[in-house]
Amino acid sequence: MKLSIVILAAGQGKRMKSDLPKVLQPLAGKPLLAHVIDTARSLSPAAIHVVYGHGGERVRSALDATLAASANRHSWVLQAEQLGTGHAVQQALPALADDELALILYGDVPLIRAETLRTLIAAATDSTSGAAMGLLTVMLDDPTGYGRIVRDAQGRVRAIVEQKDATETERGIREGNTGVMAAPVEYLRRWLGNLRNANAQREYYLTDIIAMAVADGVRVAPLVAPTVAEVLGINDKIQLAEVEAENRRLRARELMTNGVTLVDPARVDVRGSIEVGRDVEVDVNVVFEGQISLGDRVRIGPNCVLRNCRIADDVTINANCVLEDAEVGKGAIVGPFARLRPGAKLGAEVHIGNFVEVKNSSLGEGAKANHLAYVGDATVGARANIGAGTIIANYDGANKHHTTIGADAHTGSNSVLVAPVTIGVGATVGAGSTITKDVADGALAVARGRQVAIEGWKRPAKTPKK
Ligand code: UD1
Ligand code: MG
Repeated sequence: MKLSIVILAAGQGKRMKSDLPKVLQPLAGKPLLAHVIDTARSLSPAAIHVVYGHGGERVRSALDATLAASANRHSWVLQAEQLGTGHAVQQALPALADDELALILYGDVPLIRAETLRTLIAAATDSTSGAAMGLLTVMLDDPTGYGRIVRDAQGRVRAIVEQKDATETERGIREGNTGVMAAPVEYLRRWLGNLRNANAQREYYLTDIIAMAVADGVRVAPLVAPTVAEVLGINDKIQLAEVEAENRRLRARELMTNGVTLVDPARVDVRGSIEVGRDVEVDVNVVFEGQISLGDRVRIGPNCVLRNCRIADDVTINANCVLEDAEVGKGAIVGPFARLRPGAKLGAEVHIGNFVEVKNSSLGEGAKANHLAYVGDATVGARANIGAGTIIANYDGANKHHTTIGADAHTGSNSVLVAPVTIGVGATVGAGSTITKDVADGALAVARGRQVAIEGWKRPAKTPKK
């Protein structure tokens, strides 16, 4: 059976007390809804329909900008007025075909796992017993706020009763509705057409279709969610932080499962995808964003942020470094307090020390910039030594220019290399020089005022007052 996914994301999220629509609130640096769409995509459905309403254009443009380009595009379905979850699914019906299975997800339940959804879909499409309804439920210590799953004496699901419509006895039921369902579209179309809003909230409840399925003799296949975390819905900032913590815990566990030593799993954030080698060690307060790969024996000190980086084997990144769109070669040492900006490419055994910034530059094997330097738009040869306080003046106020520093060249402390300029192989720049012309291979360039000594010089004396 073909699969189409409908994601409900039209709710306002009043309890967020935020100008940002609920489904755009960030979890691990990415809008809640983007998490759900990514999971939906991983099931390779025929189509993904996102029902939106509150936040309208803002939701659409934020999501279209956030999500990676994919062949599996989603389409947007407007629910102009939020009349309930059943009404929301109804808006997507014109886009669904009768021979499809519709999987319904919530835009504010971000940790739902693809594996659980596959099990639910399998239960709903079990070929021996014919098409059925799949219903994902959850066992809760405190089911307050959830729709309750009403089962008969044989344990068969009969209906879902919303908290506000439930009797005292029904409120005692601990099995809650997660909201996630899989339903054959041909039935869904009929049932949704029969929904009424004669209930406590005057809403068209999606949950009412369960009793309709039972009345029509359509099998309801319940699946109790393997973990509570994956079905947690987010309504306020407290739940947002709780799900963030849960996500952090899960991602840290993945790292440890892959052999990474984490000094404190509660103090590492993975906000993207990460590949790791063997015997990687990560100290506290490290944030990984975007796509990261770490080679074998990489060590990352405390308080580092890495975004879209490739770090080769045996690299040490010391405390307090920020690396973005950077590549670090085997055995290199970075930091403490270093910043690698987009386009920084460090060769093997390069040393980048404290208060050094590297942008759009490649440094050859064994090159060093150990203290207080700016290396921008440069090609630096192997073993070159960039002295403390060396600044590459790459920007003339209008355009950026390139600098080439040859292999084995040394730049003295506090030198300014005014781009475009070339420092030759093995050349030396004297401390305090402002270099505006190319320096030949092996030459020494000194460009500073000469030191003058005046013997016996007298300081001015104060003129006595009259
Ligand atoms: C819903 C379920 C409840 C379940 C709970 C799980 C119904 C009637 N109730 O209740 O059984 O236990 O979720 O969290 O389905 N939405 C729209 N358009 C609407 C209304 C809602 O898109 O008109 C979206 C919301 O943005 C949200 C989701 O549907 O993502 C659920 O809506 P919400 O109002 O939170 O439903 P609950 O009352 O929590
Ligand atoms: Mg809710």
